Amino acid sequence: MNRTLYGNLIFELSKKGRKGYSLPQDYDRTHTTAELPEALRRKEAARLPECDELTVVRHYTNLSHNNFGVNDGFYPLGSCTMKYNPVINEEIAGMKAFAGLHPLQPAVTCQGALEVYYNLQESLAELAGLSEFTLNPCAGAHGELTGLMVIRAYHEAQATVPGGSPSGKRTKVLIPDSAHGTNPASAAVCGLEVVEVKSNANGTVDLEDLERLVQLEGPNIAAMMMTNPNTLGIFEPRVLEITEMVHKAGGLMYYDGANLNALLGECRPGDMGFDVMHINLHKTFSTPHGGGGPGSGPVGVRKGLEKFLPTPRVKKVVVNYDLPDDGPTEWEGFIIDWGANNEELRTKNESNSDSDSSLFPPHPSLGSVGNFFGNFGVMLKAYAYILSLGSENIKQVGPLATLNANYIKERLRDSYLLPIKGLCKHEVVFDGLVDKSTGVTTMDVAKRLLDYGYHAPTIYFPLLFHESLMIEPTENESKETIDAFIDVMHKIAEEAKTDPELVKTAPHNTPIGRVDDVLAAKQPVTTYWKMTE
Ligand SMILES: Cc1ncc(COP(=O)(O)O)c(C=O)c1O
Repeated sequence: MNRTLYGNLIFELSKKGRKGYSLPQDYDRTHTTAELPEALRRKEAARLPECDELTVVRHYTNLSHNNFGVNDGFYPLGSCTMKYNPVINEEIAGMKAFAGLHPLQPAVTCQGALEVYYNLQESLAELAGLSEFTLNPCAGAHGELTGLMVIRAYHEAQATVPGGSPSGKRTKVLIPDSAHGTNPASAAVCGLEVVEVKSNANGTVDLEDLERLVQLEGPNIAAMMMTNPNTLGIFEPRVLEITEMVHKAGGLMYYDGANLNALLGECRPGDMGFDVMHINLHKTFSTPHGGGGPGSGPVGVRKGLEKFLPTPRVKKVVVNYDLPDDGPTEWEGFIIDWGANNEELRTKNESNSDSDSSLFPPHPSLGSVGNFFGNFGVMLKAYAYILSLGSENIKQVGPLATLNANYIKERLRDSYLLPIKGLCKHEVVFDGLVDKSTGVTTMDVAKRLLDYGYHAPTIYFPLLFHESLMIEPTENESKETIDAFIDVMHKIAEEAKTDPELVKTAPHNTPIGRVDDVLAAKQPVTTYWKMTE
């Protein structure tokens, strides 16, 4: 590929009057313009690039080669990592029998899809140690908001709390200072107030601070949101004390399960005392995270909270028929519970369906929070992933992810500053280089990694350290891959001492060198003509 030529912008490759298409000679374009109102018609032709077909194809092929994905090399991005995305699962999600379904198709014509949906609801409940799941939310943050809405609905259904806020409502959410940014954002969007809980020197929840806040806010506490392992990759060893403390004050415990892979099959949020949680299917269960979706953030609840979950949900029914010739017969099938707030959808779906939702009388759920059933393709991949691992192998996910992260931690701690020394879970956080004397920063290290063919780790998150560098190897990488990455990290640490300018001006081998991130974020110029005029 001639990168020098085809790597130019498509506008730079443009030659006036050149075309990559030909229309029939007698093509009449008058009717297209005539149909548009005068005010909406262009006064002059759009300034589009004019190129021949091969130039266009080569230009975009060249661009696509500049992408870096998990199929190209090691991808140590922490917290939002692309986990394991087997191609077979993509193929299953793309099967016409699934991909061609219409969301309002009568339930009787898509029993197979409804069975997958139902089985996934059940499998997630089993893995989480909770009673029931909705698959409706379409992202992790969407799941957080939904979960908090469930919690709010639960408290609203209780009697008002004496001694609480003026309205007698529980409005405060306790959130550790190490939490993922979406946690406080979701609480605010839900109309709740965030109360920050401090971390101690080990990076875990400061129990004394929590106790103080529980005393102070008692009857105002709606919930505490936590992720365990937390965003530093550390397991909260006193989680049972935490959940007990919040429950005693009348609050519910919310578990951010975005990084559930660290615990999969090993221990369950429900058993730790959590009442409501979300899972990121697009991280833990075989769909790449990032790039704008599609995602899926199912929400699960403990027994007693099911009625507050959004709809639709799929239920299994057994109907008994007494057939004139064959006598009593049982039919087992799946039915859609649209919920009381989805009356319109329910009637549409039932008008041409044999299914009988009267088996599920209306109940006070939140209604629907996503479109129809949510992102079904993501669910198919998740279900295929769970089935292909099975209940025994799924238990390997957490220990392997933990082993890999700890191996990296121990081998890099001589060159990279390790602020929290103990055992980590699926990811490890360093605070930049041990030797900072030459001024090489975490940003420089991340940029230099690109030169060696690696995606950068997560940088400057979590916010607890100035030079955070968070690495998550995942459970799937071979020892050779991890060793090669460690060698490169050591090499960069050495370069930072002997030739700091090389690191500070990296990357050198990529199509585009160091960009000014701040300028790009604050004054983006996104049109070629504006750049050139
Ligand atoms: C701990 C944690 N919580 C919540 C989220 C939000 O998930 P999403 O990006 O799907 O909204 C993430 C994102 O990766 C996360 O790491």
